Amino acid sequence: VLFRSFNTAVRNYRVGVVGASGGIGQPLSLLLKLDQRVTDLSLYDVAPVTPGVAADIGHVCTPAKTAGYVGQDQMHAALKDCDVVVIPAGVPRKPGMTRDDLFTMNASIVQGIAEACVTACPKAMFLIISNPVNSTVPIFAETLKKHGVYDKKRLFGVTSLDVVRANTFIAENQGMDVNTMAVPVIGGHAGTTILPLLSQVPGASFSDEDTKALTHRIQFGGDEVVAAKAGGGSATLSMAYAGQFFASRLMAAMSGEKDVVECAFVENDLTSAPFFATKVKLGPNGAEEVLPYGPLSAFEQEGLDSLVPDLIVQAKKGIEFANK
Ligand code: NAI
Repeated sequence: VLFRSFNTAVRNYRVGVVGASGGIGQPLSLLLKLDQRVTDLSLYDVAPVTPGVAADIGHVCTPAKTAGYVGQDQMHAALKDCDVVVIPAGVPRKPGMTRDDLFTMNASIVQGIAEACVTACPKAMFLIISNPVNSTVPIFAETLKKHGVYDKKRLFGVTSLDVVRANTFIAENQGMDVNTMAVPVIGGHAGTTILPLLSQVPGASFSDEDTKALTHRIQFGGDEVVAAKAGGGSATLSMAYAGQFFASRLMAAMSGEKDVVECAFVENDLTSAPFFATKVKLGPNGAEEVLPYGPLSAFEQEGLDSLVPDLIVQAKKGIEFANK
């Protein structure tokens, strides 16, 4: 009986996707439908196609019950009692845009979603994908704070795509098995605020030139996709993979798996920036422990010193927006 009730707990999460009909939202929702820990999949978007996306995904023969909700009127029902809410809602980049250029559009979208979560699912784990992550996470935090329901352990900026790219590019460069890679990537999620720690990859060695080139490629990997899609948007499929990966690691930790450590953008005081991506030990209550990022090479230390002021500015922008 104990075993059965344990198993029930393991596979019993209600997961909401906000922005479920978008380029990221659709493949992310499909991947979440395949996750055996998900029993309820709640797909929300403002796009009219959303009930169709839910009907389509709902035919996949896995346990998760899938429901689609569309428009503001149905937002509360969509979010009601979610354990995990993954948020890829908002506008993506076009060629020539930085993530910060998205602030004007996405800041109010993210704020509105946070406000809905206050009453519908204040205790959920919130996974923010919407860019600019360096500012949208502070906006989400401030909005929850205003309503007295903020818990810093339950709010994550999803930076897993940076780790995914680092794993791929470094395995390729070093001729290593990509399945064994877990490159720590710290800082934030925009350009030079993304800092991969190549010096911490076991067994790897890089020329100074390679270190610079790989670091740059990981920082600006998103631009490769934006340019190649030529106006058709930014990374969606790799982001769906990365988002589902992080959500599934979190749900594993929530249901008792030990030693789950992943990088994420969370509130902490490792640096003078209020939010900083680093290694985080996940558990039943979310970010149970923020781990130190460990020893840095001189090159990485230089990168860290120059990114922290940017993170502070970008967080401040979000905090001021939320308190306007
Ligand atoms: P998309 O435009 O294809 O999809 C966005 C979806 O959000 C659309 O279906 C739209 O109807 C919906 N939406 C807009 N306002 C909404 C609201 N108030 N409530 C619910 N849904 C709403 O965009 P895509 O490519 O899926 O990107 C989404 C976001 O993810 C962008 O901000 C993008 O910059 C970001 N992104 C983040 C990454 C990361 O590593 N954290 C990587 C790639 C993209």
